[in-house]
Amino acid sequence: MLAQGRSPFVGRSLACATWPALGRWRPPSTPPRPLDLPLVGSDHEPRALDAAREQARAAGVTIDWKLKDVADIHPPAQSGLLVANPPYGHRLGQDVRGVYDAFGFSLRERFVGWRALFLAPAEDLARRVHRDAHCLTIFSNGGLRVGLFAVEG
Ligand SMILES: C[S@@+](CC[C@H](N)C(=O)[O-])C[C@H]1O[C@@H](n2cnc3c(N)ncnc32)[C@H](O)[C@@H]1O
Repeated sequence: MLAQGRSPFVGRSLACATWPALGRWRPPSTPPRPLDLPLVGSDHEPRALDAAREQARAAGVTIDWKLKDVADIHPPAQSGLLVANPPYGHRLGQDVRGVYDAFGFSLRERFVGWRALFLAPAEDLARRVHRDAHCLTIFSNGGLRVGLFAVEG
């Protein structure tokens, strides 16, 4: 939303706006200036990509979608933020180590200078992506315990 100069207050209300402590505070009426950043998203499953495309359309966000394996992702700029939600392997009982290895290879080889944020259900999977991955927080995502990990660029 920031990248596209859209106010986070348009089309929704925030509970904190009614807090007495905020008194007569009102959301800003002028939207932030667009940052002019390219937003690119990918998945290797056409159906997953369609769902993501639909969600982005509903949110009014323009994203350049690509059908790609994570082993084949390339940075659209010299620096940026790479955000990923790889499979957890819980629901289908799959061995997902290969996906984390491929993601790690792409990140380390091609996204030099980028920061990364990604979800992983376990520390050892996060370390397959990058040995310096550190956990920012742990939370429940659809009932599954996952960590949000960061790699500084
Ligand atoms: C936990 S889901 C996340 C879905 C969606 N991105 C989200 O955040 O809600 C994991 C996604 O990883 C995709 N995926 C699994 N292996 C992949 C691979 N090797 N390359 C690219 N995408 C992959 C799956 O198709 C699935 O959509």
